[in-house]
Amino acid sequence: MATMEREKLLEVKNLKKHFKVDRKAVLKAVDDVSFDIYKGETLGLVGESGCGKSTTGRTIIRLYEATDGEVLYEGKNVHGKKSARELKEFNRKMQMIFQDPYASLNPRMTVKDIIAEGIDIHRLAKNSKERNERVYELLETVGLNKDHANRYPHEFSGGQRQRIGIARALAVDPDFIIADEPISALDVSIQAQVVNLLMKLQKERGLTYLFIAHDLSMVKHISDRVGVMYLGNLVELAGSDELYEEPLHPYTQALLSAIPVPDPEVERSRERIILEGDLPSPINPPSGCRFRTRCPHAMDVCARVNPKWQEAREGHWVACHLYDQEFNKEGK
Ligand SMILES: Nc1ncnc2c1ncn2[C@@H]1O[C@H](COP(=O)(O)OP(=O)(O)O)[C@@H](O)[C@H]1O
Ligand SMILES: [Mg+2]
Repeated sequence: MATMEREKLLEVKNLKKHFKVDRKAVLKAVDDVSFDIYKGETLGLVGESGCGKSTTGRTIIRLYEATDGEVLYEGKNVHGKKSARELKEFNRKMQMIFQDPYASLNPRMTVKDIIAEGIDIHRLAKNSKERNERVYELLETVGLNKDHANRYPHEFSGGQRQRIGIARALAVDPDFIIADEPISALDVSIQAQVVNLLMKLQKERGLTYLFIAHDLSMVKHISDRVGVMYLGNLVELAGSDELYEEPLHPYTQALLSAIPVPDPEVERSRERIILEGDLPSPINPPSGCRFRTRCPHAMDVCARVNPKWQEAREGHWVACHLYDQEFNKEGK
């Protein structure tokens, strides 16, 4: 896909989200992350648990206030001072689907009221008849039906609850949806159904997705481009095929080498990159490149200098000294 000509929906610039964990310690959950999201695409965001994926999503959508950096939505700054009307409009356009469909639905509300909450807030229905009709339509859209409207979340399976979460997000007619590991909590047999539903909705409604997952093999199939995070940093971002076929960052290479290949012959001869050591703490990350303590290619410079986030090839971004041209010219 020729992303170069495509229109940007969202620009994330040097975004930081730090949490104060006690009087002295600061946890840098997201630390200087920059990327764009194009209209109509699915951008996959992957990385081990705790690397900052959810915090990135939540900060973009303003569930968290950014510590630093900017998020532009159609060129407009999402953070910073806004009129109540502007805020409301951002809240409508950007929706989130959460990982845990059990925790994200209010158990004391009927499905109808859960789905209609946004409709009410944004006054999208003229009267209760129209409100009901909208809810029924949304239920059909996500593969449920109007008989489900007056029931409570506990009466549904995990997959059905996630469909309710999707209906709730769609109710306000958003442009952009962050799906934060929407299928991780579901049975494997249900996962494909929910992914297929999301893909169908994207096509029908021209939605843009930020799709968060910890599993690289899963996002490949659905993402136009994929970004890889490690310990609060984005380490690589490229078109899906390119990222999978020619990963540049040693961390991406290691993640990919852990995915089994269906062809048994290839699988047998395949080399697996085993990462040394444990994941460091984001409260006290390594100096320079955060990945260097586990990197099979670590050099002296990696401990001293944080690698720049750079476009190594057209549309292929990486933060790694192996691709630092000036540095390589100097001959290390
Ligand atoms: N509200 C919070 N307060 C303090 N630390 C947090 C908070 N939310 C997340 N963190 C920490 O930030 C880091 C990134 O978390 P998260 O964004 O949830 O990672 P991921 O979604 O990739 O698993 C983790 O170390 C996590 O413990
Ligand atoms: Mg998460």
